[in-house]
Amino acid sequence: MPKKSNNNIRNKNNNQNKNNNKNKNKIVDPLEKKSKRELLEMLQSIKSQQSQLEIEKKKIQIEKDQIEKDKEKIDKEMEILEQLTLSSEEKYKEMMKEMEKMKIYKQVASQSHNEISPEEVQDLEAIGSGAYGNVFRAIWRGKEVAVKRIKPEYVRGEHLEEFKREVLVLSRTRHPNIVLFMGACTQLPNLFLVTEYCHHGSLFQMIRSSQTNLTYQEKIKAAKDIALGMTYLHLTKPKIIIHRDLKSSNVLIDSSGTAKVADFGLSRIKDESLKHTRFRGTPCYMAPEMLKSTHYTEKVDVFSYGILLWELYTQQFPYKGIKNPIQIAFNVGFHDLRPPLSNIKHGQWKKLLEMCWDKDPLKRPSFPQILKILDQFSEN
Ligand SMILES: Nc1ncnc2c1ncn2[C@@H]1O[C@H](COP(=O)(O)OP(=O)(O)OP(=O)(O)O)[C@@H](O)[C@H]1O
Ligand SMILES: [Mg+2]
Repeated sequence: MPKKSNNNIRNKNNNQNKNNNKNKNKIVDPLEKKSKRELLEMLQSIKSQQSQLEIEKKKIQIEKDQIEKDKEKIDKEMEILEQLTLSSEEKYKEMMKEMEKMKIYKQVASQSHNEISPEEVQDLEAIGSGAYGNVFRAIWRGKEVAVKRIKPEYVRGEHLEEFKREVLVLSRTRHPNIVLFMGACTQLPNLFLVTEYCHHGSLFQMIRSSQTNLTYQEKIKAAKDIALGMTYLHLTKPKIIIHRDLKSSNVLIDSSGTAKVADFGLSRIKDESLKHTRFRGTPCYMAPEMLKSTHYTEKVDVFSYGILLWELYTQQFPYKGIKNPIQIAFNVGFHDLRPPLSNIKHGQWKKLLEMCWDKDPLKRPSFPQILKILDQFSEN
């Protein structure tokens, strides 16, 4: 190839490359080619899209607010639901308890006590009187018995059912150290209980009688008899029996000299009619917790037993210098007042009664434990 034509070709190529580079650096604006009308249309469309967006935004905000409100509503409903579930759980538990009680009542009611009609009983003589009424020596079906006639004001209205239930509880007790229940009349206004007649009267009468000077062995024997009766009551099933008014006048002595516990259960009737008063038992035998609150256990009976042990040993009135029962109750409840120990010569007796009247119910022994302690007593 000739040299000149080669040069021409090279120059041509160079020019072409230069043109190409020029075109590459130039930015192409699409709007450049649009007409004014088209541009206006575009602007219009953008504006309408913008307002559409604005509307959408508002819609979303409204929905958001609605969701917030719904959430609050749901939270509140959940709270109510939770409360409802809780209270219905409690109600269910209460219902179950009631049903359990009803079951026991039904069981007891199906076995009725021995109902005695007023004409069957012939009073012989009045032998005593207490908070609930008068006690008579009487004859029932040819047998000498004791009849306790309850004042009708103790068993008004709804308390009659309670009275009948307590009578049923009494009628089911069977123990040589519990006064034998024989029957009852539960037809208002005739309310009375018929029990075995205890020839030597109450322990209260016996230990204060000028003719009775109990030996230490006799005192231990009486203490054991009472503890046996109380062990029986405290181990009763399905529900234990708390006496709540254990005292020397509620321990009776039969013709063979055996001490028997009486008048348990009646304290509950007294309780019902005196619901709003503090004194449910007899102040000088009452445990401090019973004087202070309505919550107490069978250990209140152990406290009373402690006072009874003191009385049995000394054959004296507890707190005989203090005439006002409220003063006794206040000092026992709040100042740990107890009868004096100076007259108690037997260390084992002193130790036992101090354990029994401990101000802390949990530290007091149970009746089965008391029986074990009494079994280890030496008789002199
Ligand atoms: N089964 C009985 N056998 C012999 N005497 C009895 C019998 N039951 C009661 N007594 C005598 O009747 C008295 C009065 O008893 P009652 O239970 O009515 O009164 P209380 O025990 O003195 O006091 P409270 O009413 O607080 O129990 C007794 O102290 C006792 O002497
Ligand atoms: Mg009594």
